[in-house]
Amino acid sequence: MQQRHTPRLAVYPGSFDPLTNGHVDIIQRGVRLFDRIVIALLVNREKAPLFSVEERLELTREVFRAEPNVEVDTFDGLLVDYARRRRANVIVRGLRAISDFEYELQMALMNRRLNDEIETVFMMPAEPYTYVSSRLVKEVFALGGSVAGLVPAAVEARLAAKYQTQPAAG
Ligand code: PNS
Repeated sequence: MQQRHTPRLAVYPGSFDPLTNGHVDIIQRGVRLFDRIVIALLVNREKAPLFSVEERLELTREVFRAEPNVEVDTFDGLLVDYARRRRANVIVRGLRAISDFEYELQMALMNRRLNDEIETVFMMPAEPYTYVSSRLVKEVFALGGSVAGLVPAAVEARLAAKYQTQPAAG
């Protein structure tokens, strides 16, 4: 008799301000491991993001429009509570370099302490994205540098619209 397995749902949380090709790469790898991934945008009232939650939601949904196993949602409060509500037992986080490790270790262990049934899974992005961060993308773009190839085309167009510029060549 064929065994039915419970669909594995993973939550990929973050600020995604904005989504980079490093994030996209992790999600593409993740959908090969899990039945479904929920990209969970943190609604953080304290930070002043470049893109509003609504803009990020719309942009991220646009990028994954053709991917039926990727959902985009927002969350507030504790990540483990959100994951439990969604019946997800995996949290996916990207790990680029040693410098990410300490913060990620702290979060993973704190989340484990809060809910031992939810496992954090770390995934490495493709090498060309190991230095890419939302913060650097924003800084480079704001100062007139090119971020072509580092973010999805839709994100680049939104950055250009925000700063009312043409994307830099190259
Ligand atoms: O991409 P980011 O900004 O590094 O993502 C950080 C995020 C959203 C994963 C983290 O801040 C988070 O989970 N916040 C929700 C509040 C929470 O659960 N805090 C305790 C985590 S140890």
